[in-house]
Amino acid sequence: MSSVTTSAAPGQTAASDLLPAVPLLALDRQHAVLREEIRAAVDRVCESGRFVLGPDVTALEEELAAALDVPHAISCASGSDALLLALMALGVGSGDEVVLPSYTFFATASAVTRLGAVPIFADIDPETYLVDPEDVRRKVSRRCRAIIPVHLFGRTADMDALRPIAEAAGVPIVEDAAQSILSTWHGRCSGGLGDVGCFSFYPTKNLGGAGDGGFLTTTRDDLAKSLRLLRVHGMEPRYYHDLIGINSRLDSIQAAVLRVKLPHLDAWTTSRQHNAARYASLFAAYDFAGRVVVPTDESRGRHVWNQYVIRITDGQRDSLRKHLAACGVGTEIYYPVPLHLQVCFSHLGWRQGDLPQTERAAEETLALPIFPELRADEQHTVVARIAEFFGAARKPAATPATRAAASGPHFLRRMVGRANEVIS
Ligand SMILES: Cc1ncc(COP(=O)(O)O)c(C=O)c1O
Repeated sequence: MSSVTTSAAPGQTAASDLLPAVPLLALDRQHAVLREEIRAAVDRVCESGRFVLGPDVTALEEELAAALDVPHAISCASGSDALLLALMALGVGSGDEVVLPSYTFFATASAVTRLGAVPIFADIDPETYLVDPEDVRRKVSRRCRAIIPVHLFGRTADMDALRPIAEAAGVPIVEDAAQSILSTWHGRCSGGLGDVGCFSFYPTKNLGGAGDGGFLTTTRDDLAKSLRLLRVHGMEPRYYHDLIGINSRLDSIQAAVLRVKLPHLDAWTTSRQHNAARYASLFAAYDFAGRVVVPTDESRGRHVWNQYVIRITDGQRDSLRKHLAACGVGTEIYYPVPLHLQVCFSHLGWRQGDLPQTERAAEETLALPIFPELRADEQHTVVARIAEFFGAARKPAATPATRAAASGPHFLRRMVGRANEVIS
């Protein structure tokens, strides 16, 4: 166990005790800037008397389609419903198989099981935490009806590798892009890389509403038509139902709030990227002896850093988390129990050891604050607290020559590039 030196002698204050608390997420900071605009937007909806779908929802859908450069954006009540609607539109049903990662939020798999289909879990790449295409290839059988890559933590899954697998199997790709709005892959936004994209407006997401919400994207006109029908009970015209859908409409108030926020999303995303780069250089200043692994950036597209997830390799992740909580630093574990080991899926027969990289990630990863309004001094605090926990020494200060080499406009980007190194 590492020595933790946070407390001062009686009557004295240690320098480290003066470090500020750092929340995992501070939506109040975002709201403080937008308060008046949001109030006006909510008032406008209340005065219109249109609370479900309506002009704000239509306008939001058009604005999202333009922002993501996709022909169709269709809103719904949540990211979970988006996944369900996508699979319904693709005709996934009883006995079908859908291949997806186990290292994801529950909704990715529950959408499959709610339709009577069977989730087939694939392992992840230990560096990116994204689904491992080779394991997907192994898991696709003749019963497979869809593949769901999850663009976890804001990083696009390896679509170069996944698309040929889907094409060879003749199955569609449903992108779970709940955490990756505005992430790109070779210049194209996630959500436009497969057959259907599924997004969430849950408040912790990069574009979060004032409650639940979600949307779907597709480049396929046939699917767009089905999705619009399925989200309103399959009803067209009113009270006539050719197919059975669900009630999954976006509220007008959510759409109005989201329309205030959407124009800021690109700048917020850039701030997240800067914060990730700053973490990379801050961590690199300490000698962690290989016990802390920071996340890598994506060279083939834009990583939008919904989460900044480090790996603790020496078995002390939970102790570190307790230490950070005691210092007022917010963290989260995404996800402590992989889906293949969840009790509700025990009937599927998966065992500990079936997906080794997924299980290791569940034991070793920890998400740090990365939200756009996070201040540089707060990031210093987070890294200093982690260094304190491990008793990590600062590396020798840079000489004028190395400082000169490291400065300049490419410095931050270069640090992100280097962040794939195990910090030692
Ligand atoms: C990867 C992933 N998929 C699906 C969802 C479900 O979205 P929602 O919470 O809007 O239902 C989430 C959100 O928590 C998510 O992170």
